[in-house]
Amino acid sequence: MCSNFCDMMFKEKKYGRVAKNIPKGFYSANDFFEYLFNNKDMIWMGQNTNHLHKEDYIYNGMAECLESREYSKYPPSEGFSELKSLILNDLGLKDSEVLISSGGTDSLYLAMNTILEPHHNVITTDPGYLIIDNFASRFANKVIQIPIYNKECGYKLTPRLLKENMDKNTKIVVLIDPLNPLGTAYTSEEIEKFAKIAIENDIYLIHDVTYKDFAREHYSIAKCAPDNSITIYSFSKVFGMAGLRIGAMVSNVDVISAVKSIIINDLGTNIIAQAGAISAIKSKNKWIDDIVNTTRNNQKLIKSMIDDVNDVFIVNYPSDGNMLAIDVEKAGINSKELAEYLLDKNIFTRSGTYTSSRFGDKYLRISFSIPEEEVKIFNQEFPKAIEVLRK
Ligand SMILES: Cc1ncc(COP(=O)(O)O)c(C=O)c1O
Repeated sequence: MCSNFCDMMFKEKKYGRVAKNIPKGFYSANDFFEYLFNNKDMIWMGQNTNHLHKEDYIYNGMAECLESREYSKYPPSEGFSELKSLILNDLGLKDSEVLISSGGTDSLYLAMNTILEPHHNVITTDPGYLIIDNFASRFANKVIQIPIYNKECGYKLTPRLLKENMDKNTKIVVLIDPLNPLGTAYTSEEIEKFAKIAIENDIYLIHDVTYKDFAREHYSIAKCAPDNSITIYSFSKVFGMAGLRIGAMVSNVDVISAVKSIIINDLGTNIIAQAGAISAIKSKNKWIDDIVNTTRNNQKLIKSMIDDVNDVFIVNYPSDGNMLAIDVEKAGINSKELAEYLLDKNIFTRSGTYTSSRFGDKYLRISFSIPEEEVKIFNQEFPKAIEVLRK
């Protein structure tokens, strides 16, 4: 009865598909995540988060802010200048503008809202991070997801594929670099080519560099196309601050001032999170090697386990992210079944359907910036799961 009544009051907006796969037995996505959160034994390989920070730099930065009780004041609405210049420095940029937001997610939404007109189309990849497509679908006429789950294109967008798929209404091209879920990264040559296409065709490249610090090499589009790019920056992954919800966007002065005019939270971003973020970048050189080396070593351990399991393979190895995809199609296994099986063993992974409508049933996504002992548990359970579920 309520739903009929509500239908009369307003019409729910239907945008591009949001990737909410609710596992069996859960009422809603929130219900599922709360269950995960409350289960302290859960091995967290499902969100590309980083559980390896042992040092206290970030913690101390936030603790000082708490002790000062300065959280009773609003922070400056666009973020503290110190944090903005630290981010620019981290990206190797000088003359760009920065806006601090409650996570890369916020920045992605603001970028779409600012740039897109109803006749525009947006190019993304499939697989990719689907909430970006959803945001794009709220403002554009069309979202074109280019299938890249194949060796020929190297499991990533290529300048050639972009040229073949763009038209006069293409306004945004999304480059997640390295790509969630496959961990493919763009070479400097590719970045230069994308930049040239964007400049010549009056297109914006959204360069989502959420996972950049895990990559062996990383090249900034903002350096080649400062007026045709928006860089999305996150503190959730290498900095291990996902729960604090802080990130940023970086672009030229015109884009950032246009964004300011449509901003929702004009009272600023959480002051404790900003204090943590400042300490995080300032201390980065003290911990980054440890985190990246442990993550890469974990990836090697997973690879040698996978090599001994018949009919499954890592889609892109080595991954340049802290996540990778394992293709299980040949074993006759659906990735949702596999994720649910592992969840019963207290291992949280993600079925590919979270990051791909077309190919999602084929692969399981796992992240591995977690302690090595937990990777070893995964390595024991995964082969057993394949043998139980194999058809
Ligand atoms: C490509 C990509 N961009 C952005 C985000 C979200 O970042 P944040 O936690 O900063 O909102 C994620 C999270 O998984 C991601 O994979």
